[in-house]
Amino acid sequence: MNLAARMSRIGTETAFEAGARARALEATGKSVVHMEIGEPDFDTPSNIREAAKRAFDRGATHYTPTPGIPELREAIAADATARKKFPVSADRVLVMPGGKPVMFFAILALVDEGDEVVYPDPGFPIYESMVNYVGGKAIPGPIRQENGFRLDPDELATLVNERTKLVIINSPANPTGGVSTGEDLEKIAALAHRYDFTVLADEIYGRILYEGEHVSIASLPDMAERTIVLDGFSKTYAMTGWRLGYAIVPETLVTPLSRLIVNSVSCTNAATQWAGVEALTGPQDSVDVMVREFQARRDLIVDGLNAIPGFNCLRPKGAFYAFPDISATGLTGAELADKMLYQGGVCALSGTAFGQVGRRHLRFSYATSSENIAEALKRIRAVVEPIMAAGAGARPGTAR
Ligand SMILES: Cc1ncc(COP(=O)(O)O)c(C=O)c1O
Repeated sequence: MNLAARMSRIGTETAFEAGARARALEATGKSVVHMEIGEPDFDTPSNIREAAKRAFDRGATHYTPTPGIPELREAIAADATARKKFPVSADRVLVMPGGKPVMFFAILALVDEGDEVVYPDPGFPIYESMVNYVGGKAIPGPIRQENGFRLDPDELATLVNERTKLVIINSPANPTGGVSTGEDLEKIAALAHRYDFTVLADEIYGRILYEGEHVSIASLPDMAERTIVLDGFSKTYAMTGWRLGYAIVPETLVTPLSRLIVNSVSCTNAATQWAGVEALTGPQDSVDVMVREFQARRDLIVDGLNAIPGFNCLRPKGAFYAFPDISATGLTGAELADKMLYQGGVCALSGTAFGQVGRRHLRFSYATSSENIAEALKRIRAVVEPIMAAGAGARPGTAR
């Protein structure tokens, strides 16, 4: 069958493919520690599950309004006003089946063929995929370890111009755990005003932050009118499989994005939306417990990786990923990821799954138990030590 030409430009999210490779290996009897996928290993808190059951039993089995049930839009508006620190009204909230549709629809709605879009590299792979898919010009905005994995606004200033339609930012970030400072965001906002571009602010890890307070770029003066905030329930409430996310959008985007929702999914699952109301308005202690546990695991994996020769790992400030530089092993991220899976039984991702700037890195999701992390560290050491002993480590920085 002849596919549409645009299909040759669509990318993918390698985490799902790596997971499938690891499971194929497990089917042959090999043990694998899974560190590829970005999802909390915790169960969705029981109060949220119970709310969904009650909703089903009450008959929440029908279509809902396209932008979401009013109760959830109100709850999101109240929560976002408090946490993101700008006034959010419910009519600017669009509920969707996950955070991913927000990027899909925002890019579909805004980016014409040839429009320039700056996206984080390394960053969530779907940004670049979608920009290419719609025929936009995807411009990587380098995220460097030397800069604490923050997008450098001065470097961004060299990448934006009158043709820039959209700049995508993500803080705390996947895959690096980097967090933009308030000052960074102010500089990015000044560029947005100067060149009249829109910002897609992916804040899905906004509550998985280990120090400081989350700052939303939409809270800066006049930025709510040029920012699409992406957020959701997948990470904060361990609800990846429920599919529930949302956008907070400028008034001019409410109708166009609602049109894309009605053309694709009509609305988000009704009972899931009631679960979302409970998530936001019910007790929050399970989020706090989860974040504290992630912080302990972060320290375990960062200290453990830094004790392995050839690894240099920053301590991430947010999200649940470690992104060590492994260039001192003399291997690329892709080569070492393969060895770790097939020789060591640890499934991590090559940094190139997130863009070319990440080629000297590996990404480990530490949203897994401390026991798994300790076992993975042992296995990684067993793979890497012989490589270093054989002298690859004598050529630090040679990996491309
Ligand atoms: C940076 C980032 N944004 C968005 C998403 C998508 O979230 P959801 O599962 O709610 O679609 C992810 C998931 O891994 C992510 O890492």
